[in-house]
Amino acid sequence: MSEKLAILGGPKAVGENIQFKVWPKVTKEDEKFVLASLRQSNHAFGPNCVALQEEFAAWNGNKYCAASNSGTAALHMGLAACEVGCGDEVITTTLSWTSSATCIMHHNAIPVFVDIDWDTQLIDPAKIEAAITPKTKAILPVHYWGLPCDMDAIMKIARKHNLYVIEDACQAHGATYKGKKVGTIGHCAAFSLNQNKNMSAGEGGLFVANDEKLFQKGRALMNFGEMRAPEAKRDFHSYGMGWMYRTSDLPAAYARSMLKNLDATNAKARENYDRLYEGLRGVPNLKLPVEPKHRRSNGYAFVIRIESTPANWKGTMAEFQHAVALALTAEGVPVAAARMALPAHTVFQAKNGYGHGCPWTCPYTRKDISYDMKQFPVTQKVVDCSIQIAINGHRPPNGAREINAIIKGVRKVFNQLDQVPRAK
Ligand SMILES: Cc1ncc(COP(=O)(O)O)c(C=O)c1O
Repeated sequence: MSEKLAILGGPKAVGENIQFKVWPKVTKEDEKFVLASLRQSNHAFGPNCVALQEEFAAWNGNKYCAASNSGTAALHMGLAACEVGCGDEVITTTLSWTSSATCIMHHNAIPVFVDIDWDTQLIDPAKIEAAITPKTKAILPVHYWGLPCDMDAIMKIARKHNLYVIEDACQAHGATYKGKKVGTIGHCAAFSLNQNKNMSAGEGGLFVANDEKLFQKGRALMNFGEMRAPEAKRDFHSYGMGWMYRTSDLPAAYARSMLKNLDATNAKARENYDRLYEGLRGVPNLKLPVEPKHRRSNGYAFVIRIESTPANWKGTMAEFQHAVALALTAEGVPVAAARMALPAHTVFQAKNGYGHGCPWTCPYTRKDISYDMKQFPVTQKVVDCSIQIAINGHRPPNGAREINAIIKGVRKVFNQLDQVPRAK
């Protein structure tokens, strides 16, 4: 007999002795790096920014890296690098953070969504070719939840249709595809250094590429359109449209310190991922994350899915998911807020971009761009049944004790899904 669910007044599965810790744990080494940055005189694009670029490029296996102030900025730089412009179309996934699609509009181009694969929750390469039009300029695959996309299939389509590939690796530092780190396979890539990421700077981003000319076109955006490295001598001339996307020395110093530990923290994140996976294996009605052969997640996220609603449930799967998330929370299991499909966001449904319907009303844009959600049945199904274990639950410095507590709570709820009450 299972114990009564906490949401119905039973005891919590996760005892008061378990205190989940917040990611990331700040180390003495981090403090040393940041203090040293403060104590030198260049707090703008200072020596830590330059060193971070070199060290990340070397760690990831890229020739060039530019340190920006967000992953969104790094993605935008990728679009500029690939000469995506007014009315051009960029194919991306239906399931990601909003920036994966809105970055395309920052360059007056049009996001075209392709539904995801049910198992991996990543862009389905089998559906990409049907979305290509004469206006398609690039594919922007997202290694969502830290799992690499099927890059061989994507690169093959890109070569066939002469398209650029901009990898959104914002969540995927150290994830590998056939042994290669993500961000080294497409024409360029973006990483985020937001606090939630396996490598963080509080906020920040990294734009990487291997082709020098392409890299320079992207980097120019970062410095008011000046075609020069931010640390080089300036001529105060904007050669094209530019933004101010540079990072600054303090966050870069922190990021450098985190980079030194990244292999070790990624290994710990993976240890927690594997422990969760093993501990939840065989739980009825629970679909575990799928990691295809030769594609290794960096342990960024752990997302479980409900396979079906119990016979006594009167309502939709989305309502059930909400009720299960509340039951898990009542047990003390940290779960993250549910996400919506990207094209379902108002900015796409209302096509309200820059006002006056731009960029969709721009004369260069194809007029029949549709964001009708009926085109993305897999995404809606995934969104309706997914529950993400919160980062500040499964990520280090949490370890075996906390992970075992999560397993206990999830098992308790999933073993009696027919007891889960409707959310009030
Ligand atoms: C997949 C993905 N793309 C892009 C971004 C944007 O990165 P940032 O928040 O650093 O701008 C994020 C951030 O969460 C992300 O998860």
